[in-house]
Amino acid sequence: MNDKAKKKVLVLLGSPRKTGNTAILAQEIASGAESVGAAVETLYINGMDIKACQACWTCQKEESKGCPIDDDMQTIYHKLSEADSWVIASPVHWFNMSTQTKLWLDRCFALQKYGENPFRKKIAIAMSFGDTDPFTSGCINAIRSFQDSFRYVGAKIVGIVYGSAMNPGDISGNADLLKAAKELGKKL
Ligand SMILES: Cc1cc2nc3c(=O)[nH]c(=O)nc-3n(C[C@H](O)[C@H](O)[C@H](O)COP(=O)(O)O)c2cc1C
Repeated sequence: MNDKAKKKVLVLLGSPRKTGNTAILAQEIASGAESVGAAVETLYINGMDIKACQACWTCQKEESKGCPIDDDMQTIYHKLSEADSWVIASPVHWFNMSTQTKLWLDRCFALQKYGENPFRKKIAIAMSFGDTDPFTSGCINAIRSFQDSFRYVGAKIVGIVYGSAMNPGDISGNADLLKAAKELGKKL
């Protein structure tokens, strides 16, 4: 397959732990995608300069060229727009998605200025939480936020994998979950 025909998958690691539980799940999804010929790029969001949306609404004006904040999001906008699929990896922090994930997601308000159909994506979500239950952990709050957000912009969530794990690497003990993550990657 030549490079142009390859599907582009962009992985957004939303944990400060670069090799933590959600990064492991994201890696399995990436490996599934690569096994069917996709090209994967991974961004460690915590190491990037992404400021919070300032609610200036500049990006919503008809003549606007995009978000006026000059930070790493300017590069990320183009990567988000060019990718066929996004893999969103986020731990549960305080009963919702991580701050790192919410930062870039809020900034997607401006994404419409960075491509023809910037939200026509397939989306895979990977989450982990320290509690034993997806409801009491707050994982379901995050999933609801993703579902509402992507329904609003017309993107398609093709699958969500999540599991309980507290310490970095604990998720590796959940073989069924890793397998589900790899299978999810094949759908991207
Ligand atoms: C600041 C912080 C807040 C957390 N809040 C929650 C929470 O609300 N619910 C929960 O079940 N686990 C919570 N956890 C535990 C993490 O979700 C859990 O350790 C997860 O596996 C981390 O994934 P990671 O290794 O990819 O960072 C929290 C951890 C941190 C550091």
